[in-house]
Amino acid sequence: MKNICVLGLGYIGLPTSALLANKGYKVYGVDIVKSTVDTINCGKIHIVEPELDTFVKSAVNSGNLVASLTPSKADIFIIAVPTPFHDGYIPNIDYIISATKSIVPYLEEGNMIILESTSPVGTTDKIENILKENKVDTSKLFISHCPERVLPGQIMRELVENDRIVGGTTDKATQKTVEFYRTFVSGEVIATDARTAEMSKLTENSFRDVNIAFANELSILCDKFNIDVWELIRLANRHPRVNILQPGAGVGGHCIAVDPWFIVHAGGDDAKIIRTAREVNSYKTQWVIEKIKNRALEFENKNDKKAIIACMGLAFKPNIDDLRESPALYITQSLISDNLNILAVEPNITNFNEFEIIDYKEAINKADIIVFLVAHKEFKELKVKTDLDFCGVLNV
Ligand SMILES: NC(=O)c1ccc[n+]([C@@H]2O[C@H](COP(=O)([O-])OP(=O)(O)OC[C@H]3O[C@@H](n4cnc5c(N)ncnc54)[C@H](O)[C@@H]3O)[C@@H](O)[C@H]2O)c1
Repeated sequence: MKNICVLGLGYIGLPTSALLANKGYKVYGVDIVKSTVDTINCGKIHIVEPELDTFVKSAVNSGNLVASLTPSKADIFIIAVPTPFHDGYIPNIDYIISATKSIVPYLEEGNMIILESTSPVGTTDKIENILKENKVDTSKLFISHCPERVLPGQIMRELVENDRIVGGTTDKATQKTVEFYRTFVSGEVIATDARTAEMSKLTENSFRDVNIAFANELSILCDKFNIDVWELIRLANRHPRVNILQPGAGVGGHCIAVDPWFIVHAGGDDAKIIRTAREVNSYKTQWVIEKIKNRALEFENKNDKKAIIACMGLAFKPNIDDLRESPALYITQSLISDNLNILAVEPNITNFNEFEIIDYKEAINKADIIVFLVAHKEFKELKVKTDLDFCGVLNV
């Protein structure tokens, strides 16, 4: 039986640890947050993800999953720590660097180190360099990147079923890492080199971003030309080789809104489309804010009172409670800070520390202006008319 040490027990590291522990591996889960470690050691979870509670409970009860604040000796080390950006969209790999340094005292000949965090090209090589600087003989280790591509809400299934890309710093590292993933992945595990594996994950998210930017740009143009963008896209998609995505209030989440910047930062002026897509998607959010403000002003001029505006949805995409990098949240915050009279609605969240969240039906009844920002399923059944439907919930 192999021992595995997983660094980072968040949305990726905890499901991975629990899955591996249920497959019979002995897993040492490591996190720097004590409350996270304590919660997991009680067989409980600190994040929302379907089925994860059952996996963690049985993993901890079997003794195969133990969480700790410090790493342990193991055969395989998996790094699943955050990779955000610094100000100015500069990739922040500080968490990877500190996780790498933290395992130095525990490394032994033949160990495998796998970076799962979404990372700028060259990060896996950097891990090797950091180890060398810390006097580790890396010729006896197998270092690889295996990016994660699960969809929140379906993580436990996708961890097993998705195809995986594995790229090592050497062919032997790639081969050994592929063999490991084949022990628990039913999708294909495909071998490449470390840099291609890193770029592959960034490319997947940039592809989505560029295609959403096309839809968002169309939505702005259609508004100018007085054309219904939802009908336009439906019609254009009747072409057998056209598949335009849906526009929205921008692009959010901690992946698609973040990872393309890793390419732009390294690619400079050669990353033209990828940078422009980021800018178009951010501009769409500002455009939505201006649209709402103009409508509020028109209402005020006509009625001699301030409009009550219902902002429908705060999450970064439909039917989840995740607010990370959410354009809908940003729009609502901007309108509130500009002193507009806002009723904030998010059916997937009951309490929010910044402002009150109210029931969606109550908001509809009270509002003078209704703005749809996220196409949550609850909104689809509402019989309201508004042309400020930025997510197509009434049209698609
Ligand atoms: N969440 C997703 O859906 C998803 C999907 C694909 C890829 N990813 C990528 O996976 C990586 C992890 O994302 P996540 O969503 O799990 O992040 P997360 O913030 O949910 O979890 C990361 C955890 O790492 C811990 N941590 C930070 N530094 C550490 C250290 N030195 N040692 C041990 N633990 C440490 C944090 O306390 C946190 O609990 C990121 O690169 C992300 O882009 C995430």
